[in-house]
Amino acid sequence: MRQCLVTGANRGIGLAFTRALLADGASVLACCRAPAQAAALAELREAHPQRLRVLPLALPGEAAIAALAREVEALDVRLDLLVNNAGMLVSGERFGTVTADALRDSFAINAAAPFLLVQALAERLADGARVLNVSTRLASIAGVTELRTPSYAMSKAALNMATRQLAAALRGRGIPVVAVSPGWVRTDMGGSGATLDADASVRGMLALIDRVTLDDSGRFFGHDGSPIGW
Ligand SMILES: NC(=O)c1ccc[n+]([C@@H]2O[C@H](COP(=O)([O-])OP(=O)(O)OC[C@H]3O[C@@H](n4cnc5c(N)ncnc54)[C@H](OP(=O)(O)O)[C@@H]3O)[C@@H](O)[C@H]2O)c1
Repeated sequence: MRQCLVTGANRGIGLAFTRALLADGASVLACCRAPAQAAALAELREAHPQRLRVLPLALPGEAAIAALAREVEALDVRLDLLVNNAGMLVSGERFGTVTADALRDSFAINAAAPFLLVQALAERLADGARVLNVSTRLASIAGVTELRTPSYAMSKAALNMATRQLAAALRGRGIPVVAVSPGWVRTDMGGSGATLDADASVRGMLALIDRVTLDDSGRFFGHDGSPIGW
C-alpha cells in the first residue's frame, strides 16, 4: 500500500490531497497544526480508520519537525510520497510597507520548513519515493512584471531552489523531487474567484507525480504537467 505524508492537510489543497490519496487506496499521514480542531480530517478518519493518521505539525519549528520524524520512525513507515503543501501568504503587501516579519515568516514556512522536513524524513523515504513541493507560478522569476505579494513570491522562489537542492541530494536514491504550481485554486488562500477547484488541481498534480522520472527531478511544473520557466 502506498504510504504518503501531506502537510497542511486540514483544509484547502492539502485536504484535497488527503481525500484523493485515500480514495486511491493509499495510507496517509495527514499533518496539521491543530489535530483536535481538524474536523474534516476527523470525518475522514472515521471513514478510513486504518489508513489515515492525523499528526501535529506546526511549522517552521525545528523541534516540531524532529518530533514528527520520531513519530514516523516509531510507526515504522516508509514513505512513498511526501507532499510539502503547507504554506502562507501575506496579502495586501504594498511597496514601502513590506515588513521584515512578513519576509522572515514567509521564508521560514514556505521555503526553509519544506527543506528541513525532507531532510529530517530522508531516512524514512522509500528508495524511489517522490517529493512534491507545492509552489506557485508567482515564484517564476522570469514571469514577474509587477510587484505582487513579494514575501510570498520570494519565499516560493526559494522553495524552488530548495527543490533543486533536494533533487541533487536524493538523486542517488532514485527519488525525484519536483516543484508544482497547483494553478489558481478556490481555497481560503486562493479565494472564491479562483478558476480551479481543489480536487481538479490535486488530480492533475497526482497524475504528474505518478509519471515523473529522475529526468524530471528538480524541475518546475504546472498542475497539468506543463513546464514552468524559472
Ligand atoms: N490556492 C491557490 O490558488 C494557490 C496557488 C498557488 C499555490 N498555492 C499553494 O498551495 C498550498 C496550499 O494552499 P491552499 O490554497 O490550500 O491554502 P489554505 O487554504 O490557506 O491552506 C493552507 C494550509 O497550510 C497550513 N499552514 C499554514 N501555515 C502553517 C504553519 N505555520 N504550520 C503548519 N501548517 C501551516 C494551514 O494550516 P492552518 O489551517 O492551521 O492555518 C492550511 O492547512 C500552499 O503552499 C500555497 O502557497 C495555492
